[in-house]
Amino acid sequence: MQGAPGFVELLYLWGMKARRITIAIDGGAAVGKSTTAKQVAQVLEYLYIDTGAMYRAFTYGLLLEKIDFDDSTGVLDYLSRVKVGFTQDEKIKRVTLNDTALGTEIRSPEVSAGVSVVSAYPAVRRYMVERQRKIGAGGGVVMDGRDIGTVVFPDAELKVFMVAELDARVVRRVAELRAAGFEVDEDAVRQDLVRRDQLDAGRADSPLRKADDALELDTTHLSVEGQVAQIISWVHERTAIPVPV
Ligand code: DC
Repeated sequence: MQGAPGFVELLYLWGMKARRITIAIDGGAAVGKSTTAKQVAQVLEYLYIDTGAMYRAFTYGLLLEKIDFDDSTGVLDYLSRVKVGFTQDEKIKRVTLNDTALGTEIRSPEVSAGVSVVSAYPAVRRYMVERQRKIGAGGGVVMDGRDIGTVVFPDAELKVFMVAELDARVVRRVAELRAAGFEVDEDAVRQDLVRRDQLDAGRADSPLRKADDALELDTTHLSVEGQVAQIISWVHERTAIPVPV
């Protein structure tokens, strides 16, 4: 959908906005979920929720409180004292920790190194999943993560599972981190991605996996625009209004 939309395209877009479906986007680390999901939400005027940011915010809080990621008593005690949410008044919502909005600090290598361990605690997952279900309850939401199509919204009208070759993911993640002001080493980023995918796919509670009814999107050779266009066309298939011919 490029250039000035014609009547039929406007009708399609209106149909997609009006139906307000739930779109679940899952996949491994740095496959391009957030960038694409955010843009899909913008086109459709849906809410965008980055669930990885919630696990990262909680992990960032543990670092601030100097609680060891393996200290289950400390982690669970912190969970009982903390609230993870999103800013209300902004179009692109930022994750909040006890009502304080967080930014790039949740993308630091220290947070990335711990988040897969922290997100494997069943109690942490239960807390996040409950909040995610509440936030997305009304539909009209694009939510990305690891377990959105399998656990959080198993009835989502559209489930997308994104994959990409490791080299492409490393290049993208290094560029993203450098743009955010972090000094990073390519090998360290590669190791972090591989390690996190192994931990996320190997954990007992809601592991990273493709839902049986998810559509796979390989982003290795696709531009962001190409990824967004593909997902929008899938949304259209699910919301199509018969067009008079
Ligand atoms: O999407 P991300 O890389 O920012 O996610 C960070 C980590 O959070 C990821 O390695 C695993 C965890 N996560 C999860 O367990 N479930 C989700 N729905 C989203 C993220």
